[in-house]
Amino acid sequence: MEIKVIAGDITQVEADAIVVNVFEGEQPGGATAVVDKALDGAITRLISSGGIKGKFGEVSIIHTFGKLPAGIAAVAGLGKRQDFTLDKVREVAGESCRSLRKLNCHRVATIVHGADINGIESEASAEAIVEGSLLGLYSFSKYKKPEYEDIKEILIVEREEGELPALERGSHKGKVMAEATSLARDMVNQPANYMTPGRMAEVAKEIADKSKLEINIFDSSDMEAMGMGALLGVSKGSSQAPKLITLSYKGNESSESAIGFIGKGVTFDSGGISIKPSEGMSEMKDDMAGGAAVMAALSAIAQLKPKINVVGIIPATENLPSGSALKPGDVIKAMNGKTIEVVSTDAEGRLILADALSYAVKQGLSPLVDLATLTGACRVALGTGYSGAFGNDQELIDNVRRAADKAGEKLWQLPLPEEYKEQNKSEIADIKNIGERYGGAITAALFLAEFTDNSPWVHLDIAGTASSSKGSGYIVKGATGVGVRTLVELALSLATKCAEPFASCHSEGVERPKNLTQGKLREGY
Ligand code: BES
Ligand code: ZN
Ligand code: ZN
Repeated sequence: MEIKVIAGDITQVEADAIVVNVFEGEQPGGATAVVDKALDGAITRLISSGGIKGKFGEVSIIHTFGKLPAGIAAVAGLGKRQDFTLDKVREVAGESCRSLRKLNCHRVATIVHGADINGIESEASAEAIVEGSLLGLYSFSKYKKPEYEDIKEILIVEREEGELPALERGSHKGKVMAEATSLARDMVNQPANYMTPGRMAEVAKEIADKSKLEINIFDSSDMEAMGMGALLGVSKGSSQAPKLITLSYKGNESSESAIGFIGKGVTFDSGGISIKPSEGMSEMKDDMAGGAAVMAALSAIAQLKPKINVVGIIPATENLPSGSALKPGDVIKAMNGKTIEVVSTDAEGRLILADALSYAVKQGLSPLVDLATLTGACRVALGTGYSGAFGNDQELIDNVRRAADKAGEKLWQLPLPEEYKEQNKSEIADIKNIGERYGGAITAALFLAEFTDNSPWVHLDIAGTASSSKGSGYIVKGATGVGVRTLVELALSLATKCAEPFASCHSEGVERPKNLTQGKLREGY
């Protein structure tokens, strides 16, 4: 699909449809008022008759019958003005594009929704329109013809020519973000017979070649040499070879430091010997969504080029039962030397992350952010709208929260209480891999914390948010691509932060003032 930003009057644009908007309980303003006039007051009349309410999510179709070059004027409801947010721009764009695709529109022009409302800048709005449109139109069509033909072109139309550079910048970033999110969705939507650990490594290679990233693919003999007994343990039951994938982006040549993104890549989680009930088991092809998000985020970061170094680490394996599988009660040793009693082979995500986090620490990466479809308990706690956020450094957690907020991805912080650590204590090993029945998302996160060596770290449990059972806004049924945009925004914000007040902290390798680093983010990431 092509996206263009053009200067002009939306009433004059040659397109199959134009999209304008109206707030709930208000009369048309700006470009919508101009379109209303060209349509002899059709929008105003529909508002007074109650046909258009302006409610959020409403898309009203008006056929223009020759009054405008475009055959259709779609009026998108923005809801109440005071409730309007940037994420609503994404949703409005997604909903209106989907409605117009159903009507066989190929070329769609839109005004810039919400710019200057509630502090929303036009650049951010253009970004959100592009993200919302592309993600709302996403479909997974590898094995089945899509239901509708694609919209081929979206035109973002602005009257003020001076606004174009900002809109172009926003539109470019939006396209990069949406394409990366779609890449993650594609990987997650692929069935597990296709998206094996080996295939994940191939996709990583494709990303690395395209984006000029450094790549390492470690196989089981490398894992053995590095002492990754936990990742190897989980992989033992499967005939698919495990892979540990690393993708490195170097945006700051003058710094040796890098931040680490770690993503769980279980390409199918049957539970292993602690096998899951068969009902709903097919959903467990999504268990590599964290790994997919990390890979996709690296591909977007490579295009947006922030001045920061980022390493993505993806432990990829299947979790299957067999004669060679890990058994409940087995004891394995992670790369950092800690022994783990495997009480349930279904708590495998934390095992492979134990090795991946140990590896990240050994590489000196800091801060660390991991993403994992880790626990059903997190989905029970927060539902499917919020990912759980945990961490050992409040400043980093707040940075991640701000990044998520900017990206339109919802997080909710959960605690890491010292007193729950007791639950992970084992009689025969340093730690065991499950706690008590309640608070399972927390004990899982506390388990991970044992492998971070107190580096600043945030864990995002995306078990509830990685896929959706229904489409709305810019979410479609299936994989959501959650986490990609949060990670990219985080990398951008950490790069800017260093570049602005402490420009020297990267370029000359000078340490940041001590009072800002003590117990907080480590210097130089
Ligand atoms: N992959 C699952 C978690 C999951 C559940 C993801 C539902 C998405 C939707 C994870 O490996 C798992 O099986 N966790 C167990 C942990 C338990 C054995 C302590 C769980 O949540 O039941
Ligand atoms: Zn599991
Ligand atoms: Zn799992």
